[in-house]
Amino acid sequence: MSGNLSVAIVGATGAVGQEFVRLLAERRFPVGRLKLLASRRSAGKTVEFQGRPHTIEELTDDSFQDVELALFSAGASISRKFAPLAAEAGATVVDNSSAFRMTPGIPLVVPEVNPEALEGVELGNGGIIANPNCSTIIMIVPVTPIHRAVRVRRIVVSTYQAASGAGAAAMAELEQQTREVLAGRSPTCEIFRQQYAFNLFSHDSGIGPDGYNTEEMKMVRESHKIWGDSSVAITATCVRVPVMRAHAESINLELEEALDADQARSLLANAHGVSILDDRTGNRFPTPLDASGRDDVFVGRIRADISRSGKNGVHGLDLFVCGDQIRKGAALNAVQIAERLVGDRTRRSARRVEVSLSR
Ligand SMILES: NC(=O)c1ccc[n+]([C@@H]2O[C@H](COP(=O)([O-])OP(=O)(O)OC[C@H]3O[C@@H](n4cnc5c(N)ncnc54)[C@H](OP(=O)(O)O)[C@@H]3O)[C@@H](O)[C@H]2O)c1
Repeated sequence: MSGNLSVAIVGATGAVGQEFVRLLAERRFPVGRLKLLASRRSAGKTVEFQGRPHTIEELTDDSFQDVELALFSAGASISRKFAPLAAEAGATVVDNSSAFRMTPGIPLVVPEVNPEALEGVELGNGGIIANPNCSTIIMIVPVTPIHRAVRVRRIVVSTYQAASGAGAAAMAELEQQTREVLAGRSPTCEIFRQQYAFNLFSHDSGIGPDGYNTEEMKMVRESHKIWGDSSVAITATCVRVPVMRAHAESINLELEEALDADQARSLLANAHGVSILDDRTGNRFPTPLDASGRDDVFVGRIRADISRSGKNGVHGLDLFVCGDQIRKGAALNAVQIAERLVGDRTRRSARRVEVSLSR
């Protein structure tokens, strides 16, 4: 890619923000000017990008003058306040928070699944695009090719979510707790209300009157919006496990048509953003460590559901998946969205040149 976009990262010191900085360099994103924004606490610190130190600036109302692309990852309240200001100043915002995901008219995009939702968005022309929740992305990337082939009627998903999903401070707390427990001391619980090291617990987001927590309902509602189809029944149980990075999910699918393990494997082998790790003989299936730092969602334990297959015309499939939720679940997905917008812009200007030459 070539070009010189003016890019801002909001939340540049966070778990997702740091991954943005790495990815923009690694993927040679066409950055002309990079503005790194965070809270006043971080202003003045420096972060290396393309071999040069960049100074963190405090996020203010005026941060977005001359910014064409703003990548937001500083939490929903910051996005609610500053993303509209950035868009008004002309920046195209890709927001990682939950602030706008379910807002009608705001595209909620996974490039492998619904890139058409970006139609009409022009880089540097304002507008907000929402990045889905990490657990949703990690589920929908491998489930979509199956849904398109044989239609999924119902999903039962259980997550095993890493500390990194709760940010840089949560990762530090898991490390600290692990040291404390091994040393026989009681663990510091500041980010989480209960011991995390050598334990697991139900996701710490708020629980509604129906008993579902917010994370679970994000998986349901966001999947419906991304697919543009709310007829697929989805139920989720979200759990935090003491893994540093990368989420795992056990996914049970009820299908409209039969699909055996080999057919599912071959669909998944041809799917973008998916890698298969399904070695039954060697008992090697995806782990968070396999997925950490990797772009793809890893899929294994691919098997027809024996409780369903064919009985009463109902077919089922089981999968176990792992994906790096800081990467594909957040920063990478947002950068892939931005790459598509850059591609669209390049195609538009090539067309303009063609038209003017043909006149
Ligand atoms: N972690 C994930 O896997 C993941 C996945 C999907 C979506 N997300 C979403 O991405 C966002 C960030 O998550 P994270 O895990 O990266 O969190 P994090 O590690 O806690 O980082 C939070 C970032 O927000 C900045 N920030 C906080 N208050 C601010 C303020 N008043 N003004 C400006 N910047 C402020 C922090 O800056 P300071 O360092 O200066 O405090 C830091 O850069 C959240 O909305 C989260 O829901 C995260």
